[in-house]
Amino acid sequence: MSAILPPPQRVWWKQPLDRVELLWIVIALIWCLIMFFMMPFWHIYGKQNLANEAYRANPGDYMKKAEDMIAKYKVREVGPDNLKVPVVHPPAGADVYMVARLWSWYPQLELEAGKSYRIHLMSMDWLHGFSLQPENINIQVHPGYEHVLTVTPTNPGTYAIICNEYCGINHHTMSSRLYVVK
Ligand code: CUA
Repeated sequence: MSAILPPPQRVWWKQPLDRVELLWIVIALIWCLIMFFMMPFWHIYGKQNLANEAYRANPGDYMKKAEDMIAKYKVREVGPDNLKVPVVHPPAGADVYMVARLWSWYPQLELEAGKSYRIHLMSMDWLHGFSLQPENINIQVHPGYEHVLTVTPTNPGTYAIICNEYCGINHHTMSSRLYVVK
């Protein structure tokens, strides 16, 4: 019998199952179950996946929270005169708001190593991607959704944030910095 010709007995599913066939079905099923339960297991014990939350939220309200936070915790500004970006240094444990929009991240964050923060992300226009380099953190940032990730930076240094979802003509310029200080 070949796969091209029709089987000699048309009602093939009524034929008895071969032992080898059954064995392979059992092996495949067991492997499927192992792979399936590996997903939640590795999420908890592998310490590789981000445990983040997302909520539907109003962009106007979100922008207001970001502006309030910037007014409270701004420590300096960076960038050329016409493109100044505020840098905020929030206290440990604070809710930190970052806005993604065509084609910038606003504001820049300065965090302390060993302290935990809740970083909120939202897009004001369309889909952007939050990619923290060289760490392996990747988050899609959608308009109308507030993403919250709890992070505890461990190594001081200057990190790069780049947009990794194509968002138009200046997508390649949509980058920022994240500072981790002692
Ligand atoms: Cu924002 Cu690409």
